[in-house]
Amino acid sequence: MSRSIAFRSLFIGGLLAASAASVTAFAATPQSLFNDNCSACHQTTGKGVKGAFPALAGDPFVQGDPAPVMATVLAGRAGMPAFKDDLSDADLSAILTYVRTSWGNKGQPVTAADVAAARAKLKAGKKPASLQAH
Ligand code: HEC
Repeated sequence: MSRSIAFRSLFIGGLLAASAASVTAFAATPQSLFNDNCSACHQTTGKGVKGAFPALAGDPFVQGDPAPVMATVLAGRAGMPAFKDDLSDADLSAILTYVRTSWGNKGQPVTAADVAAARAKLKAGKKPASLQAH
């Protein structure tokens, strides 16, 4: 009997510890930023959804030259939204570094300064006249 009470208080203690841990998890991490902004389509596994959302895990494009990767995420492409107005340089660099170095990916990290430069380049970039009005 007393054993089961001891067990129960251990169990409750464990629950309290677990909820304390989930409170600290509110601080954004590269993984949580990816999960919040990207995983709805690309999945938390980075494997995407065949025929709809490309896999980022094992994708040579994602691990290669960072410039086109940054441009894709800043400006969006086809069925993917642009993130330039939603994510800071620091958050984007955290997400892109996470994507380039997770799930077995072996890309180089991306810094906030890299993203700032890519953002400036995108702004300065010439757009076709038909898009300039927007
Ligand atoms: C609403 C769904 C959606 C969300 C959210 C989304 N993506 Fe995408 N993403 C796509 C689609 C669709 C494509 C393929 C676009 C195409 O056909 O050219 C894509 C393509 C990409 C590519 C290029 C892959 C390649 O090999 O060409 C990268 C890199 C990428 N996404 C990263 C991200 C990151 C990082 C985030 C979060 C900041 C994100 N995506 C959020 C739908 C999404």
